[in-house]
Amino acid sequence: PSLQWYPGHMRKAERLVKENLKLVDVVVELLDARIPLSSANPVLREIVGGKPRLIVLNKADLADETATRTWVKYFAAQGITAVPVDAVKGHGVKELVQAIAKCAKPKTDKLVQHGAKARAARCMILGIPNVGKSSLINRLSGGTKTKVENRPGVTRAKQWIRLGAQLELLDMPGILWPKFEDQQAALHLAFTGAINDNVYDVASVVLLLLNTLREAYPADLAARYRMEGDLPSGTELLEEIGRRRGCLRAGGKIDYEKAEQIVLTDFRSGRLGRVTLDSLPDMSFDGDVR
Ligand code: G4P
Repeated sequence: PSLQWYPGHMRKAERLVKENLKLVDVVVELLDARIPLSSANPVLREIVGGKPRLIVLNKADLADETATRTWVKYFAAQGITAVPVDAVKGHGVKELVQAIAKCAKPKTDKLVQHGAKARAARCMILGIPNVGKSSLINRLSGGTKTKVENRPGVTRAKQWIRLGAQLELLDMPGILWPKFEDQQAALHLAFTGAINDNVYDVASVVLLLLNTLREAYPADLAARYRMEGDLPSGTELLEEIGRRRGCLRAGGKIDYEKAEQIVLTDFRSGRLGRVTLDSLPDMSFDGDVR
């Protein structure tokens, strides 16, 4: 699929993130646990510079648990803490708050050593659209947001949410653009619903998704649609699913569009099992994620 984005839009997003970066001690980057590489912003590391960074592997409830453990180790090997989270149910959120406080401690301790008054650690949440930034901010604030008064240098519109005595969160998700120029990443973003369905060809994306699942998670696919034996491939597999799910037009013809929507909805809601699409990059390369 060929995907387009607007450079003007990207520049604006980048500028906003840069402006807000100055206000925080720690950057919390949300990745989709199913696609930790594809959901990463290609230039975030440049933007963030030397600022402490922490990764949230969000939607961990939809990802393969074993794969998520491997990803956590992978980031740890690079000195980056990654915390699996389900921002909707709140799983992993307590661990995340602790990890953020720990990540900010060298900075806040240093301020005190240099004679400043002790203050809470400040962080912001960054990530591509739909990765769960608003959900996580809502979760962290527990619904009732304790606003911190505006302080000098902070735009009036910006608010801070207090998370206990140790932490303040900028109540403004920083939106990053995804790796749309990498076709494999773009495909994984389309599978997971990170990219709007009307900017790509749904029919071919669904066939590619089915192929991927057939290769990597055939048992989940067979179980969901009650299929036995060798699974058919390509359009035949979609037709079989359509037949089994009653996606038929007059005259008994398969309603492909309906079958495609069923597959997408089943996959994105986790009804096709917990699936991780991105595999680890070759660690012998240079150990660098991006
Ligand atoms: P954003 O601010 O980064 O754009 O993302 P947002 O919080 O709006 O979340 C996007 C969608 O992802 C929401 O679904 C939200 O419920 C879901 N989501 C966020 N975090 C998690 C998680 O940890 N696990 C699961 N399973 N889902 C999560 P939605 O409002 O229903 O939107 P949609 O499904 O109609 O796109």
